[in-house]
Amino acid sequence: MKITATNAKKTKPDVDKLGFGKYMSDHMLVMDYAGGKWNEPEIVPYAPFEIDPATQILHYGQGIFEGMKAYKNKDGKVTMFRPRDNFVRMNASAERLCMPQLDVEKVLAAAFDFVRLEKDWIPQAEGTSFYVRPAMFCSDVYLGVKAGANYRFFIIGGPVGAYYANGLAPTKIFIEDFYTRSSIGGTGNAKCLGNYAASLIGQEKAHKLGYDQALWMDAKDKKYIEEVGSMNIFFVIGDTVVTPALSTSILAGITRDSALKILKKNGYKTEERKISVDEILAAQNDGSLKEIFGTGTAAVISPVGEFAYKDKNYIVGGGKMGKITEYLYGELTGIQTGKIKDTYGWVVEL
Ligand code: COI
Repeated sequence: MKITATNAKKTKPDVDKLGFGKYMSDHMLVMDYAGGKWNEPEIVPYAPFEIDPATQILHYGQGIFEGMKAYKNKDGKVTMFRPRDNFVRMNASAERLCMPQLDVEKVLAAAFDFVRLEKDWIPQAEGTSFYVRPAMFCSDVYLGVKAGANYRFFIIGGPVGAYYANGLAPTKIFIEDFYTRSSIGGTGNAKCLGNYAASLIGQEKAHKLGYDQALWMDAKDKKYIEEVGSMNIFFVIGDTVVTPALSTSILAGITRDSALKILKKNGYKTEERKISVDEILAAQNDGSLKEIFGTGTAAVISPVGEFAYKDKNYIVGGGKMGKITEYLYGELTGIQTGKIKDTYGWVVEL
C-alpha cells in the first residue's frame, strides 16, 4: 500500500476531554472506484476532499458508512473488535444502496495498515478507544437520478471516549409516536446516510423535551419497538433479556449480536421477538421491567434509566444501571480491551 506520511502531525487531545467524534488523526485512507473496478487504496495526510457541487452524494445521498473500534492494551498490543463483520455489513448496505461491493479481505488489510500507522493515536485510558469510520459515497458529477459509476471509499479515525456526554450515567429515551425512522422494505437495516438524517427530528424533539435520544417504533402499526438510531435496544423483563427481532427496518448491530452471544453463553435467557410498547408499559406497571439498555459500537452498552411515552415519564430500575447491564458492560469491554480472554474469536491482533 502506498503511504504518504504527513509532515504536520497534529497535537493530540487531552484524554479526559475526548467525547465522541471530535478529533481526527493525522492520516486517512482513500480508494476510488472507476471503470467498473476499485483502484488500490492509499494512505495520505488527513485533508478535506474537493467536491464538485454537482456530485451525486450532495444531492441524492448515495452513501454508507461503518463504525468500529481499535484498542491498545498496557503492553502496547493493538487490537480491533470484529472488524470483518463491519465490512461484511458494509457490503450488505452497499447492495441495498446500489453501490459496488468491496473486497472484504482487501479493505480489512487496508484498515489494519491505517490503524497501525495511527497507533500513537489509540488512547489507553479506561473507556476510551480509537474509533474507525469507513465510509463510501457516489462521486459521479451528474444531476440525473441513477446509481453512479464512480465511488470513493475512505477511512478516517480518531480517539473517542463515551458517546453520551454523561458517560455511563443512565440515559433518558423518548418513545417517538409520530415520526418514523424506517419502514419494512426501507433502508433501516442499511447503514446509509439518509437514515441518520431522517432520525434527527426525533432526536431534536427528544432533546427539547429533556431526553437524550428518540426510541423508534415500527412505521406501520406505531406499536412495536425498533431501535434508537445510534443503538439497538434491550429490555430485561423478569429474568429474560428481550430485544426486537431483526427486520428490514432495524440495523443488525454487531454489538447487539455480541451482547446476545455473551448473555446466551453465560446462561441468561434471551429472546429476539416483536416487543410492543404496551408490553413495556405493562411490565413497567407490574414491576417486571427491571432494566433497559442500548448497544452499539459508539454507545457500547448504555444504561437507560428513564423513558417517556405520550406525555408520561417512567423511571426504570430506580434510574440506575441494572445488574445485567453492568455485567454485560464489564464482559464486553473486558473482551474488547484484552482484560477478559476472548473465547468467541472476535478480537483481532494487528
Ligand atoms: C456506531 O455505533 O458506530 C455508529 O455508527 C452509531 C452512530 C455514532 C452513528
